[in-house]
Amino acid sequence: MINLNVVILAAGAGKRMQSSLPKVLHNLAGRPLLAHVINIARLLSPQKICIVIGHGGEIVKQSTAADDLTWVMQEQQLGTGHALMQAQSHLDKDGFTLVLYGDVPLVSIDTLRELIQQSEGKYFSLLTALVKDPFGYGRIIRDPETSEIIAIVEQKDANADQQAINEINTGVMLIPNIQLHSWLPNIGNNNAQHEYYLTDIIGMAVKENIHIRSTHPRNFWEVMGVNNKHQLAELERIYQKEQAYNLLESGVGITDPARIDIRGELSCGSDVEIDINCIFEGNVKLGNDVKVGAHCTLRNVTVESGTIIHPYSLIEGAEIGENCKIGPYARIRPGTKLASKVHIGNFVEVKNSQIALGSKANHLSYIGDSVVGKHVNVGAGTITCNYDGAYKHQTIIEDDVFIGSNTQLIAPVKISKGSTIGAGSTITKDTPEDSLTLSRTKQVSYTEWKRPTKLKK
Ligand code: UD1
Ligand code: CA
Repeated sequence: MINLNVVILAAGAGKRMQSSLPKVLHNLAGRPLLAHVINIARLLSPQKICIVIGHGGEIVKQSTAADDLTWVMQEQQLGTGHALMQAQSHLDKDGFTLVLYGDVPLVSIDTLRELIQQSEGKYFSLLTALVKDPFGYGRIIRDPETSEIIAIVEQKDANADQQAINEINTGVMLIPNIQLHSWLPNIGNNNAQHEYYLTDIIGMAVKENIHIRSTHPRNFWEVMGVNNKHQLAELERIYQKEQAYNLLESGVGITDPARIDIRGELSCGSDVEIDINCIFEGNVKLGNDVKVGAHCTLRNVTVESGTIIHPYSLIEGAEIGENCKIGPYARIRPGTKLASKVHIGNFVEVKNSQIALGSKANHLSYIGDSVVGKHVNVGAGTITCNYDGAYKHQTIIEDDVFIGSNTQLIAPVKISKGSTIGAGSTITKDTPEDSLTLSRTKQVSYTEWKRPTKLKK
């Protein structure tokens, strides 16, 4: 491994985002652009990661701070060369500096490893790309005879011939530190934009007869930057499709790879099927044969094998056992743990509760702060009244309990093993085992009673 410093340029204002949030804090796949770049940098195990901040720098720093990051303030954005000058005192004497960009979030580890590899521990290396429309980019100028890189000319400084060149500078480069330290002080701003161009060091290298290598990214989207929300949305889709394709390749069934969003890590067993418009956030693990219906959101969830999640379910911070049936329209909230063969049906909300083997709550219920035993049947419209306005209380429902529909269980309360609750009851006291408990007035009928009617005029 070479001694590596990474500098991430992130000082730009990002005016075209039309937002008060600094550009590099906008989310792609649920994480800030800058977080993607830092993540990739860390995978290279560098000695140092320096981040050059400017506009909204304090906010960027506060929201991203970590022990392994060095922050450098660039008060005025006078160009990419100027940005690197601000970081110079943090760079090692030898080894290499890899330059990355806070608004170019998808550069891949494979591409960067290739760039590092072909530098062979000594060569200055550029990541360049061949594009149909090079407008706006710095052009790579090569010697017509040797094909060696001899300069980079920015769009605004390029003559007509140079503008026709379709090999462009992606901006990503790996620079030997010894030379970088000698070149940086010599960068001037005598150009069309009066900026200190980092790309001027290419000319300096050539003057010193230093050979420059180059390599291309595997995919062009790896070096696409975000300047506005349109480009952000475009990159989001590219990223999502890429993830979907990887899953498809590994055998996951995805009905439509254009209609899935993974904002974190999704890992799947064999024969998993995911219908359209599902969102996976944080860490989601799906076991073998799990089916996820259309329009579901799963956030930090583990689902064991054979479970079916029907459409429009929202599951968060939960562990779902094997062969469960969830939804449609189920809401499962954090702290929930379902054992095997549990059924949670439509318009059932479960929060911070454990439900044991084979128990069912199929319709219109709220189960909160509860411990539910095995083979319990929770009737439609059952509510655990867990909150007294100040404190949350627990409901315990033991094995083989049957709760009639439209029952309120006023916590703290225990429904003992084998007991049955008659429909429409409000239960305030613990029930004895294997008993029937009701709390409702006896049914009465008044045969003389007449409905009120309007008087005829
Ligand atoms: C730069 C390259 C160009 C390349 C292009 C790729 C130079 C001189 N030009 O041009 O060859 O084709 O990127 O997209 O390097 N930044 C700072 N501080 C500054 C200036 C820039 O942090 O003072 C950051 C910006 O936030 C941005 C990145 O550096 O993330 C690139 O800056 P930008 O001004 O967009 O460079 P380009 O003109 O696009
Ligand atoms: Ca740019």
